[in-house]
Amino acid sequence: MKGIILHGGFGTKLRPLTHTGPKQLIPIANKPVSQYVLEDLRNSGITEIAIILGNIYPEKVKEYYGNGEIFNVKIHYIHQNEPKGIAHAVGLCEDYVNNQPFIVYLGDNLLKGGIKPFVESFQNSNHDAMVLLCEVKNPERFGVAKLDKNGKLLQLIEKPKQPPSNYALTGIYFFKPVIFQMIKQLKPSWRGELEITEAIQKLLEQGYNVGYKIVQGWWKDTGTPEDILEANRLVLDELKPEINGKIENAAIIQGRVSIGKNSLIKEKSLIRGPAIIGENTTIESNVYIGPYTSIGNNCAIKRGEIENSIIMDNCIININDRITDSLIAPYSKIISNNSLPHAKKFIIGERTHIEL
Ligand code: DAU
Repeated sequence: MKGIILHGGFGTKLRPLTHTGPKQLIPIANKPVSQYVLEDLRNSGITEIAIILGNIYPEKVKEYYGNGEIFNVKIHYIHQNEPKGIAHAVGLCEDYVNNQPFIVYLGDNLLKGGIKPFVESFQNSNHDAMVLLCEVKNPERFGVAKLDKNGKLLQLIEKPKQPPSNYALTGIYFFKPVIFQMIKQLKPSWRGELEITEAIQKLLEQGYNVGYKIVQGWWKDTGTPEDILEANRLVLDELKPEINGKIENAAIIQGRVSIGKNSLIKEKSLIRGPAIIGENTTIESNVYIGPYTSIGNNCAIKRGEIENSIIMDNCIININDRITDSLIAPYSKIISNNSLPHAKKFIIGERTHIEL
């Protein structure tokens, strides 16, 4: 089976972070969301993978994944000129999948248990398509499945105002090539997109065999800043502690903490896990890094307290305050102004969100 990772889309809800890169490269516990996707496919035996690129810095995706060699997969890139919908993106892959069954995995979805058991069950089934459902509290945000009382799949509806169940469609789909015939019959939806949900609905209506599995454990669509922080917490909750950097004697490390190569944790600092610190990062004395914090590579945390936040690569933090619930993009600098006039100073990009 081949795999397809969707790496395009608008990224509107994640601006300004998506002004400088696609949302799927935003790091969760110091690893891009789409890398979890790629590794899940690979760990399930899928090593031939197409990545669908959009218009938001596609070259950054190519630079990160290359030909896939260092991830032990073979990557083929397909460019989607405009984000005309998930089904449109899948439709571009007909030649690539070459009449074989395949998996589509949205590059911003995280699934705790991974897809391996589902790959096996799809391969051993007669299904023309199989979807993964997850029980959620806010189904109206997703595609939703209508099931009868015996659990038979009756209908799939994209973002219904009145959801018929709490079973959301996760962004992981198993297909036989017949899906391409359905995609060709689609018309743009109310949001102007070719909806994969509608393509699968067509399979159901035309009597094809559509199966489903309900995922246990957590599943996360990382579409908003809140989702990203929650995904970061979920991943850090399972963090394997690993210390590769240097910890000075009087520094305090509590709970599960991972520290990358060449990082330095200076005396009298406190790191309370779960937390991850990347490579070449310095945590100075008297700094407090609290639970559910990810700090990237090449950062200097000179002063201040940080909790439940993601600080991406190459940032400098030197403040008298505590940062919480925050996403800080690469190369940001946050410093307390100790000189006159005592006022806040900003040089900020479009659609920045600041709470003081
Ligand atoms: O996350 C699960 C949900 O994903 C499902 O429950 C919905 O049924 C499904 O339609 C989808 O809904 P979203 O509104 O969350 O889709 P979004 O526009 O965020 O796109 C999902 C991913 O696909 C994202 O990584 C961007 C990528 N994408 C999206 C579009 C529209 C593309 O690569 N190309 C596109 O044209």
